[in-house]
Amino acid sequence: MAKDPSFTCTACGTATSKWAGRCETCGEWNTIQEVKPLSSGPGAKALGRARGRAVPLTDLATEEAEPPRTLSGVEELDRVLGGGLVKASALLVGGDPGIGKSTLLLQAAARFARNGLRVVYVSGEESVAQVQMRARRLGLTESPVRLAAETGLRDILTTLEAEAPDLVIIDSIQTMWLDTVEAAPGSVSQVRAAAHELTTFAKQRGIAVVMVGHVTKEGTIAGPRVVEHMVDTVLYFEGERGHQFRLLRAVKNRFGPAGEIGVFEMTGRGLVEVRNPSALFLSERGQPAPGSVVFAGIEGSRPMLCEFQALVAPSPHSQPRRSVVGWDGGRLSMILAVLEARAGIPFAGLDVYLNVAGGLRVGEPAADLAVAAALVSAREDAALPADCVIFGEISLSGGLRPVNQTENRLKEAAKLGFRTAITPERAKRGGDAGLALREMTTLPDFVNQVFGDRQAPA
Ligand code: TYD
Ligand code: MG
Repeated sequence: MAKDPSFTCTACGTATSKWAGRCETCGEWNTIQEVKPLSSGPGAKALGRARGRAVPLTDLATEEAEPPRTLSGVEELDRVLGGGLVKASALLVGGDPGIGKSTLLLQAAARFARNGLRVVYVSGEESVAQVQMRARRLGLTESPVRLAAETGLRDILTTLEAEAPDLVIIDSIQTMWLDTVEAAPGSVSQVRAAAHELTTFAKQRGIAVVMVGHVTKEGTIAGPRVVEHMVDTVLYFEGERGHQFRLLRAVKNRFGPAGEIGVFEMTGRGLVEVRNPSALFLSERGQPAPGSVVFAGIEGSRPMLCEFQALVAPSPHSQPRRSVVGWDGGRLSMILAVLEARAGIPFAGLDVYLNVAGGLRVGEPAADLAVAAALVSAREDAALPADCVIFGEISLSGGLRPVNQTENRLKEAAKLGFRTAITPERAKRGGDAGLALREMTTLPDFVNQVFGDRQAPA
């Protein structure tokens, strides 16, 4: 029963029937790989049977309440997990190499072990001695975590059957290999088969399995994307190389809200949770400068303040530069266009740089007004008051739209000592948390009120 070979993009996970040099979906080069069918896998014999066996059917009603959860005690982690670790679940922790995934998971393993779980940590990348050295550096040598350095999944599963742990950490899924799959470790076929085995094992035995997955641009190693749809929870560990801050972000969670983030700081003794991220992200702010704006954002369920910085300068190029870090480039173009078309502020012939301080990535449209403010402030060389936060969505017509959780944003700003907030006019009145509100309805209105006396003729 030879099947047509199928191909998968290692960057975005799209399946295609033929090979191509470039993925049509995500546009990456050299990421399409052949995926071998599981014809030699453990399910192959069962598939050969003429008839399947009857599967028991049941009702939608259940006796069971919420799945039981175990807390690690690390609040930043527990919140991202949706309120603790769930039994019989599969998790993927993705991130760039060297960002701190192994450190995070070794620390989490130790915490869960201390809270009574039987924890096994399997490293496929480092030797036992290397992991022990890290444990010493983190001060975790006393913790009852069981450790092995192994890549053969058959042996690992046999070991786990005997050990019967509550939590298994596989670091990383790209190093695991199954002898039933004829492909190199790290290939799409191996990663997918190994993740499938581990996920099935987790469900059958009622244990939590955490898989580490490196995100790579080159595409020679299968990215975690091909695993994402198999697991219950996908967490990404992000951060900028030059910064100490690390963000753990839930991009998918069957047991809790997605979009939740936890903030950590990488120190000489491992990761330390950051309880007040707003203060951290604003800590490098000096005197009010043109182009700098504080945005009152929401990340997951939590308000978080951060700083947008813009620089606008005459461009020596025929095509001016538009460079953005920490925000969406397409959205920047839109705001530049709306500023030009609706508020009469052109950016033609000007290079524009936009940056979110501290390595944070903001995805909310609620940041539109903060971005517009940063751009105009940089262009007009006029600083905003230091005690002012800004948020609001901008529509293509130049109107300002109110955003969700206005009260939470204001409360967080008040807590950090801000006195005024520039926001869209709200239909529903709520508390102002003691801030002086400057509510506006349109972008031209905003530009006139805030920069009116400074604005150069368009
Ligand atoms: P690591 O957890 O090995 O990253 P990953 O598993 O994602 O590849 O972390 C590697 C980096 O973290 C390395 O550059 C050293 C740094 N680090 C610290 O700064 N402090 C520490 O206590 C530890 C253990 C690592
Ligand atoms: Mg590692």
